[in-house]
Amino acid sequence: MCFSYTQIVFNIPRGTRDFTPEDMQKRRYLEKSMSDTFNSFGYGEVQTPMFENLDLFTAKSGEGIIDEIYSFPDKGGRNLALRPELTAPVMRFYVEKMQMEPKPLKLFYFGNCFRYDRPQKGRYREFMQAGCELIGTNTPEAQAELIAMAYKLLENAGLKTITLSIGNLNILSVLFEKLGLSKENQKYLTPLIDKSQFEDVYDALVDFNVKPKDATAFLEILQSSDVEKISEYLKDNEIVKKELNDLKIITGLLENAFDVKDYEIKMSIVRGLDYYNGLVFEIEAPCLGAEKQLCGGGAYDLIELFGGRESPTSGFAIGFDRTLIALETEGYKFTIPQLDAYLISVNEDVLEKTLEIAQMLRKQKITTDVDLLRRGIGKSLKYASSINAKKAIIVGPKELEQDSVTIKNMETGDQEIVKIKDIVSKIK
Ligand code: HAM
Repeated sequence: MCFSYTQIVFNIPRGTRDFTPEDMQKRRYLEKSMSDTFNSFGYGEVQTPMFENLDLFTAKSGEGIIDEIYSFPDKGGRNLALRPELTAPVMRFYVEKMQMEPKPLKLFYFGNCFRYDRPQKGRYREFMQAGCELIGTNTPEAQAELIAMAYKLLENAGLKTITLSIGNLNILSVLFEKLGLSKENQKYLTPLIDKSQFEDVYDALVDFNVKPKDATAFLEILQSSDVEKISEYLKDNEIVKKELNDLKIITGLLENAFDVKDYEIKMSIVRGLDYYNGLVFEIEAPCLGAEKQLCGGGAYDLIELFGGRESPTSGFAIGFDRTLIALETEGYKFTIPQLDAYLISVNEDVLEKTLEIAQMLRKQKITTDVDLLRRGIGKSLKYASSINAKKAIIVGPKELEQDSVTIKNMETGDQEIVKIKDIVSKIK
């Protein structure tokens, strides 16, 4: 007989990843650390669907965003999209079901996001965000607490070196207006400013008929972190006065109340998303190289667009995957939990008793695994050592006659015979 078949090899889709048990232990560690920090600031967790109606994302950003996301018609002809982020979904949720909740409303989330990005280290097509939305207040103390929480989320997770930059889009708008730039020209400049391509910004400004002297002054302000200097340059503008005053309160609170002293004022922060309208901030991990932005956020407007009653909103999202890469790059020592006990039956006659003892240990919250391959003591001990088990428990007929088992300490190699009723106290 002759068989002919084609072997199909399935590859993981571009820009996505599989996670091993060890990866997942690190991810669960980070998730736990972050949710503890969110909870400590009085935030409550929410969850929204992985896919939404496409128009939720085009409503603010326009059809152009379709090129950057995963969208598709379902079998009923509805246009859907895998969420590229969670701010619009959480605002949709708020307007639909939570408007009557007491304010301020503090919501946090973990969620996979999907973007049709060009994959590279730290940039994926499926990635996870840990983020939050604060609804109902935009006082300087609310904004200071928000920024401080972003900082603490990363610091509490174990990151040593992060840089915080704070900007303001209302001030940037006034700067643009001062130069008499059209909306179209502002749109052209925004990505250049975002990427700090200041020479290109200068050339473009001159092309837009801005006097070289004014272009130079504009660029100086854009790159200055001196609030007094910005204030002096835009001194006649009421919006700027209020924003700079708030900024002073925010930075004062960051330093004195939250012990966040390392930050930079940076009017060149523009943020990639269209819904921001005032304070904006970003946190980077310099150790990451090209994709170093860990966190981005600020004040924004979406509620009214989604049919809700006006209320101030702000929030941020942290790139969960990048945070893990940053922790690994900085050499953070993740504690990988060790299996407490690995049980080995000497022969088939004691198998049932071995499984019974394993169950008794699990009930006492002792992490326990059992040899399921009947591979004998020598090979089983080797396996127990390879999975880094703390103790091996050998169950044999002779010891069982005395209601006992043998416990081997896998670190020291010491062995002792222990009564079954005493195993728990011996292991704990
Ligand atoms: P975003 O800056 O687009 O903001 O994303 C937040 C973070 O997600 C980024 O700083 C980055 O760490 C991570 N991230 C973005 N794209 C990728 C990717 N392709 N692969 C891996 N990580 C990525 C937002 O999404 C806003 N919704 C944040 C927000 C919440 N603003 C107000 N509330």
